[in-house]
Amino acid sequence: MRILGIETSCDETAAAVVENGTKVLSNVIASSVDLHAQTGGVVPEVAAREHIRQISPVIDKALSDANVDWSDIDAIAVTHAPGLLTSLLVGVNTAQSLAYIHKKPLIPIHHIAAHIYANFLERDEKEIDFPVLILTISGGHNELVLMKGHYDFEVIGETLDDAAGEAFDKIARLLDLGFPGGPIISERAEKGSPDSFNFPRPMLDKENKYNFSFSGLKSAVKREVDKLTENNTPEGANGHSRLRGGMINNISASFQSAVIDVLTEKLVMAADEFDIKAVHLAGGVSANQLLRKTVREKLPKEIPLLWPVKNVYCTDNAAMVAAAAYFCPQKNRGWEKVEVHSQLPLSS
Ligand code: KG4
Ligand code: ZN
Repeated sequence: MRILGIETSCDETAAAVVENGTKVLSNVIASSVDLHAQTGGVVPEVAAREHIRQISPVIDKALSDANVDWSDIDAIAVTHAPGLLTSLLVGVNTAQSLAYIHKKPLIPIHHIAAHIYANFLERDEKEIDFPVLILTISGGHNELVLMKGHYDFEVIGETLDDAAGEAFDKIARLLDLGFPGGPIISERAEKGSPDSFNFPRPMLDKENKYNFSFSGLKSAVKREVDKLTENNTPEGANGHSRLRGGMINNISASFQSAVIDVLTEKLVMAADEFDIKAVHLAGGVSANQLLRKTVREKLPKEIPLLWPVKNVYCTDNAAMVAAAAYFCPQKNRGWEKVEVHSQLPLSS
């Protein structure tokens, strides 16, 4: 079964063709990240206009890269929630029109389910044994999910404020490093010392054992940066760019280490409490090398740990949307029944 996936929930316009949920025949991504780098974050109107400009050429390229035409496509899958409404609308309206014109079933996909199914891409599905514990970490989401079978999700923890990726993006903006923050901060962190600053590791109380909160950490980093720049303002310096490079590396390393400690500790605690066969990392932050290494070291050796086989499957893409659709039990939704939602629980 070949599914055309479409993803436009944030700032990536993406389309892909995937066979039987695992074999990626094409994976096309047009990112408007350069536009958002100028503002240090995604501006919804700008993202939506870019989606409108890119969506048709991206879908055409996904079909031609896969060497297929419409008669080879069995269904269309599209991200319908959660995300920026104006961005989601472009993908969903396009998918609805194409489903109607080409008489294909349309399968609406939850964005977090798509990130979770990114771990099936280019793997033998028999490699994946349930129940699986998944840490989904991206710019908009931060959840601990117990997956007992296909589409059998139980969210056991989530963020009470900022997601891990959002924290990376905000600290990068504070340090004038650009957008998205994750890859830049982790690069700078490699040259710095994680012990330079003792930033808080918010673990929360018993009731919030598996929930996360990164806004206090963000404030602690801001207070430190303000203190460092207070008495150190060279003429003409702008924002926090007046910090010396070495100091930026040390702040990046100390901040990253605090985020990784919290994510790892909660993940390992949950892996110990629940009877699981494997642990998966998913979402943009799962591209982080130090996080992968730390989790592998802290997790008992006998528990398999997977992350997406390529970094392009960690961040937003449409191959994961097509994979999630293949394993979705409800494949026959009519085009007129699909709605967009800025927020929607994973288990709905
Ligand atoms: O999954 P994704 O593409 O979009 C959302 O669904 O939000 O994730 C994007 C997020 C951004 O916040 C970005 O800073 C973060 O993933 N990210 C990383 C890394 N690469 C991307 N964070 C930490 N380390 C990385 N290497
Ligand atoms: Zn995402």
